Amino acid sequence: EEKEKQRLREAMDLAARLFHHLLMNTDHGEEAREYLTRRGIQHSTMEEFQLGYAPDSYRFLLPFLKRRGFHEDELIKAGLVAQRDSSTGGRSSCFDRFRGRVMFPIHDSQGRVIAFGGRLLGDGRPKYLNSPETPLFHKGKFLFNLHRARKSIRKEAQSVLFEGYMDVIAAWQAGVKNGVATLGTSLTDSQARVIRRNAETVILCYDSDTPGQQAAERGMDVLRERECVVKVARMPHGMDPDDYIGEYGADAFTDEVLAQALPFTAFKLETIKKDHNLNDEDDRMQYLARAVELVARLPQAIERDHYLRRLSEEFDISLDALKQEQRKAASKKK
Ligand code: GTP
Ligand code: MN
Ligand code: MN
Ligand code: MN
Ligand code: MN
Repeated sequence: EEKEKQRLREAMDLAARLFHHLLMNTDHGEEAREYLTRRGIQHSTMEEFQLGYAPDSYRFLLPFLKRRGFHEDELIKAGLVAQRDSSTGGRSSCFDRFRGRVMFPIHDSQGRVIAFGGRLLGDGRPKYLNSPETPLFHKGKFLFNLHRARKSIRKEAQSVLFEGYMDVIAAWQAGVKNGVATLGTSLTDSQARVIRRNAETVILCYDSDTPGQQAAERGMDVLRERECVVKVARMPHGMDPDDYIGEYGADAFTDEVLAQALPFTAFKLETIKKDHNLNDEDDRMQYLARAVELVARLPQAIERDHYLRRLSEEFDISLDALKQEQRKAASKKK
């Protein structure tokens, strides 16, 4: 079992090195190099993240690794090679899973390559292809970039959670070294535990589009279950962190987006507010009722008090009245 895993790790490591070499030093990788450069990725970053290129061929990695003594079955297990349906009884035919893609190696906490994400250079589907589940890789358990980011996460007592590889990398270039990403799926409890183990505070920095915001809403709940202090970064609608950094630069990203991230409750209040027309008296009262309900659910008295005072000032309603409503909301829940 452990011996098998060791073999798979060796295959993954060799593949990562081959892809990286192809990207950095060969004609095969020229188009991918240009693609990444056009997207603002510096050479030193390609080195740091060991980015690579998988050529657009069905048999490139496979013969390479076979020559180095790996068996097809091992490469299938590692998720590097796929197999055409052989149920018809004919000879099985194996081929490279990743073709014509920029390769992002995914590491375990010890920095060993356990999986890849691969992005097409242009349009097409799927835009990203990730390694399947393998003995080394369980996508709900790993966070992209964690092994690199851990030191600064601990030093700054804070992590930044992104949706995509390119967001982590763009943020890294912008000097934000404590970024990690889920691997194209919603945040799991197991990932939340890993995050919490390294730092209490998390800034959620998801794409500012509808799927991104929905994923952020779910992520907040998962993180708060694990007692993380959650903040939410906001960007102009339709942008993701990589777009934002490209458009407005590194300083704007750290000063306007990350530093201005809203505490969880303030963010939720803002979200609810968008559903109401505060110039309309009835609507305003409905907003207040929902806001008080939200506050009533907060675990800490200090926090509840803080937000009730804010609502009291903002809407010129007595704190007493709000507290009464809060008690009602709290008892209704039980
Ligand atoms: P770029 O277009 O390269 O900037 O990618 P992005 O990271 O902005 O992509 P997007 O916001 O669409 O998706 C966020 C993350 O979801 C990606 O980084 C991937 O991890 C994952 N993802 C996106 N598209 C696909 C896909 O087609 N298949 C899979 N499996 N994952 C995807
Ligand atoms: Mn190198
Ligand atoms: Mn998106
Ligand atoms: Mn995106
Ligand atoms: Mn993007």
